[in-house]
Amino acid sequence: MIKPDAVAAGNIGGITKMIEDAGFKIVAMKYTRLTAELAGKFYEVHAERPFYGELVEYMSSGPIVAAILEKDNAVADFRTLIGATNPAEAAEGTIRKIYATSIAANAVHGSDSDENAAIEGNFYFSQLERF
Ligand code: CMP
Repeated sequence: MIKPDAVAAGNIGGITKMIEDAGFKIVAMKYTRLTAELAGKFYEVHAERPFYGELVEYMSSGPIVAAILEKDNAVADFRTLIGATNPAEAAEGTIRKIYATSIAANAVHGSDSDENAAIEGNFYFSQLERF
């Protein structure tokens, strides 16, 4: 997901280029906006965390881009490409180092396992929307 901060700042193109240059194939992509209810559902695993309310409010504050990416070792390689959750700790050259402004407004989200990648892909896309 490209998050509301990065979409609002006009960074869809820059981030998408970094993703493609890193060898990921985009097999589905959608510009959309989450309601608070849908953002709450997407981040349900974090429901007990102290930042959950802020996260839900933030993720429903503006449009996002959702995408399904394909690559060998995609989950681990994408997490390397995006960098640490907190941009202050993100490595040089990572998407978050370049585009994120705070731990909440951290430009992008990546799935943390193959299992969650399947769940999150199904959250946004039907079978007919994947190529
Ligand atoms: P993401 O990779 O989308 O997964 C969960 C998100 O919660 C994370 O990126 C951050 O944007 C957000 N998050 C994690 N920790 C904090 C925090 N301490 N304060 C605010 N947001 C957080």
